[in-house]
Parts: sequence; C-alpha cells; structure tokens
Amino acid sequence: MEYRQLGRAGVRVSELCLGTMTFGNEADEATSKQIVDTFIDAGGNFIDTANVYSQGVSEEITGRAIAGKRDQIVLATKARFPMGADTNAVGSSRRNLRAACEASLQRLGTDWIDLYQVHCWDKFTPLEETLSTLDDLVREGKVRYIGASNFASWHLMKALGLSTLHRWEPFVCLQPEYSLITRDAERELLPLCESEGLAVIPWSPLGGGVLTGKYTKDAEFDKGTRGGDSDNPITFTYRLDDRAWNVIAAVKDAAEKTGKSAAQIALNWVVNRRGITAPIIGARNLTQLNDNLAAIGWQLDDDTRKALTWASAFRLGYPHEFIQFAG
Ligand SMILES: NC(=O)c1ccc[n+]([C@@H]2O[C@H](COP(=O)([O-])OP(=O)(O)OC[C@H]3O[C@@H](n4cnc5c(N)ncnc54)[C@H](OP(=O)(O)O)[C@@H]3O)[C@@H](O)[C@H]2O)c1
Repeated sequence: MEYRQLGRAGVRVSELCLGTMTFGNEADEATSKQIVDTFIDAGGNFIDTANVYSQGVSEEITGRAIAGKRDQIVLATKARFPMGADTNAVGSSRRNLRAACEASLQRLGTDWIDLYQVHCWDKFTPLEETLSTLDDLVREGKVRYIGASNFASWHLMKALGLSTLHRWEPFVCLQPEYSLITRDAERELLPLCESEGLAVIPWSPLGGGVLTGKYTKDAEFDKGTRGGDSDNPITFTYRLDDRAWNVIAAVKDAAEKTGKSAAQIALNWVVNRRGITAPIIGARNLTQLNDNLAAIGWQLDDDTRKALTWASAFRLGYPHEFIQFAG
C-alpha cells in the first residue's frame, strides 16, 4: 500500500480508502469487522463512513471495529442527509452540523473526526453558516480537517473563496462520484481540485458494482447484488446506458488480456488517474474486499489504459470543448 498526501493537509492516507456503506446493511457486524481488520492488515489507514449509512449503525460498527487502533486510522465521516423525521435533523445548518458531529463522535467512540465532510450541497443554508460552523468544530478539536462531497464546481470554488476571505479552515478534500462509468468530474471538479490543491477521494469507483462485470445486458440481475436488490437506495438505471455497456465490455476485455479481475482493472484505472488521491472501495464480504485490495501494486500497460480511457470517453460540452478548440 502506498500513502498519499490528503491534498494540502499534512496527513497521509492509504491509496485505497475503505468505505463502510455496506456495514449494518449488506454486511453484518462480524463481517464488517473482518473487512476492517483485513483492510488494516493490508496497510490501509483511511476509512470513510457517514451518519446516514444504516442510520448510524455503520458508524457504530466502524467505531467498535477500530477500537484500540483509533490512533493509526484517518477516520472520515459526513453529515447533511436526514437522520430521522425531525425537520431540522437534515442539512448543513449550524444547528444540524453541531448536533450531527456530537452524535457521530458518540457513535464512533472517539474524541475527534479526522475528516468531517458535508455530504451534499445544501441549497437552503448559507455557505457562511456552514463554513463558520465547520471552522468552530476544528478550533474546538472535534474535527481535524474538513471536506465536501457532491458539490458542483461553483459551490466548491465559492466555499474556498469564502474560507480565504474569512480565514476559516478550507475544504482540503472533495468526495465526488468518479469511475470509468461516471467521468463527469473531469469537466470541472478534478481540474479545480488540482488547481486548488484539494485531495480527491472518489465514491463508487466500481460504479456501484457494474464494473465488476457481474451484470449482463439481457439477463435479470441476481438477487443479493446491489443491482438485483430493489430495496437498495442506489439506483442503477443511470449507470447502465449504451455507453456503460461498452465500458463494461472494455473492462472485461482488459481483464481477459491481463489475467486480472474486472474489478481490479476498473479500480487500477481510477487509482492511477491524474488528481486522484484514494478511491473509496466498498465490499459486502471478504472475497470482494480481497479482490479489490489486489487492484494496487501494479500498473496497467499503456495500451490497455488508453483503450479503457477511450471506451469511456464522454463529451465535455460547452464551454470546455470550445476552449479546447481555441487552444
Ligand atoms: N459521498 C457520497 O454521496 C457517497 C455515495 C456512495 C458511496 N460513498 C462512499 O463510497 C464507498 C464506496 O461506494 P460504493 O459501495 O458505491 O462503491 P463501488 O465500489 O462502486 O461498489 C461497491 C459494491 O460493488 C459490489 N462489489 C464490490 N467489489 C466487488 C467485487 N470485487 N466483485 C463483485 N462485486 C463487488 C458490491 O455490491 P453487491 O455485492 O451488492 O453487488 C459492493 O457493495 C461507500 O462505502 C461510501 O463510503 C459515498
């Protein structure tokens, strides 16, 4: 495992981050604990959770799984999505972020959160309210660094500008969706993060599992997979258009040629992509985790990497194409 700087923050994180969205859901506590132990044994030190995952259960399991090893872990969590029915237990308001942070600390069984992330843009709360609250949490020692997830580029740039203006702690990290299936972050978010020195930790680097090659176009999706499980909150339809099926075919092709698994091919492409700090890997069991952990420590050859990049090409749109054309 290699370690990379978390953007401009003075902390180093493993090149794979462990996601815990399956904990308390697809993975029971015993399996989740095995997943955490195996990840740490492989050299992983970076773990991502959120208050909303299984409505707090993922944080509780994660806290218990890292008890005794807390000091060696860079622990990330998030707030913003609803926790229960209370009309104010949602969003990036001062009221909710303060309450959510205290509750996450309790559930995680720790005195501090290394990376506290706003889970999504909140159009109802002024950014000044959110950023000053996050700054207070850092000053109080409850939070070490702050990050954003699911922000548009103007949201992020506005936040960075306000932080500079008011001398508040700036976001050091962005958590966007990014994979061979979903490369939209390349339009503005990745160049912005590179320009401003932010770390990038992509979620769903396997497109929610579609890049493992387990789904076929005309067959019904198996139960017990995210795609086949209608109760799962992540919808698959937007991930499986014609372009996506071509990308999946290219990944399978690369897997056949290299002897690697499709998941390893897709993850290796993300880990080595310019501007990426650490994709967040998800697993429901140890077999999946071990498959994914073997995605690092080697490089795709140039031709295979280019073939994957080409198969997943997408239109940048205006004004990016105009600017490219202008040279
Ligand atoms: N900020 C956000 O809004 C946001 C959103 C989503 C996720 N996240 C974070 O990102 C992490 C990863 O997201 P994700 O779970 O969507 O990532 P992903 O890697 O795209 O998908 C993971 C899922 O793919 C399947 N899978 C994984 N490895 C496999 C393998 N080797 N072989 C076969 N199937 C495999 C499993 O689902 P099945 O077994 O069910 O098929 C697994 O739960 C989450 O844990 C969370 O920390 C953040």
